[in-house]
Amino acid sequence: MELPKRSHILGAGFELPRTVVTNDELSAVLDTSDEWIHQRSGIRERRYVDDGEGSSALAERAARKAIAAAGLEPGDIDLLICATLSPDVDFPGNSSFIQQRLGLAGILAFDVRNQCSSFLYMLSVADQYVRTGGARHVLVIGSEVHSSGIEYADRSRHVTVLFGDGAGAVVVGASPDGERGLLTINLHCEGAYADKLCLLGPGSLRKPRLALDWTPADIYGWPQMDGRFVFRHAVKRMGECIEEALAVIGASKDDIRMLLPHQANLRINQLVAMGLRIDDERMANNIERYGNTTAATIPILLAETLDAGRIHDNDLVCLAAFGSGFTWAAALLRW
Ligand code: UT7
Repeated sequence: MELPKRSHILGAGFELPRTVVTNDELSAVLDTSDEWIHQRSGIRERRYVDDGEGSSALAERAARKAIAAAGLEPGDIDLLICATLSPDVDFPGNSSFIQQRLGLAGILAFDVRNQCSSFLYMLSVADQYVRTGGARHVLVIGSEVHSSGIEYADRSRHVTVLFGDGAGAVVVGASPDGERGLLTINLHCEGAYADKLCLLGPGSLRKPRLALDWTPADIYGWPQMDGRFVFRHAVKRMGECIEEALAVIGASKDDIRMLLPHQANLRINQLVAMGLRIDDERMANNIERYGNTTAATIPILLAETLDAGRIHDNDLVCLAAFGSGFTWAAALLRW
């Protein structure tokens, strides 16, 4: 069997909960305002699931759309990779639940845990499987239900206002012509700053021995972030990583036709784009409507941008992310 020279994204889909939560609605429960949130982050609103809905339910719906967009059936998938920092339960990982929901019993399925950079880490794994003949059609899913894992208290307002729920998925397979598809993907991790954006409990160091030991008032039960520190590193690292990826394929900043950056803060993306001399025409953002959906962000943005007809054949598309870990990554695809 001849191995594929290159992998490509064959289809993308996304799913967002119907309920819209505006900045004004959050301002009713937190000491914050639409003006502060929009000015500092670019966010106007985000989506929240109904009570009782978990991230595997959103993942299933996004996955079905991605499979259909690729012109495939669920039975054509032979590997499922998913990522979330808001799994349905602490263990097992969401891959088991999503595999079950899609009726894909027996196929290989596993979770990746790299927070906001997860999608690009998963894409790299999918690429390896496809190019080495380990899988033909890899389903890659990011899904998050943040709304049940953030603290609605003023001490967490700088975190809580940023996050929303959603899911995005793609199918990765052999490039149809062997030329278009994933050209390079650069992944990084710097554990020295793991404590700058993290959730300490329930981990093995912090897990209460009795459920009664742990009350919702404990800060280690909620995400913590040094926002300014994360912001500075995000701008620097995403810019650097994109330049590094361009150098690998011998392309220049001007060759990028569409930049799809992670959506943590519109100001971060504007600074990255400014450094690359990329104008609004060549960048997509949707943070205004959805906030930060972590592992789901890039596949949601990609699916939306494709649906809007903003990506054309032969465009050089750049995907870039930065997040907790710290982890960061950039990928270049010839569409
Ligand atoms: O996806 C993972 C990656 N995450 C990120 O990339 C997030 C990166 N960081 C950021 O996006 C920004 O740092 C934030 C949006 C989180 C915060 O913006 P900032 O401009 O860095 O604000 P700050 O944390 O320095 O806080 C400025 C002020 C403080 O008040 P004082 O000390 O000046 O009186 C905060 O207490 O804003 C206050 N503040 C708020 N005020 C109203 C913090 N959060 C809020 C809030 N509403 N939600």
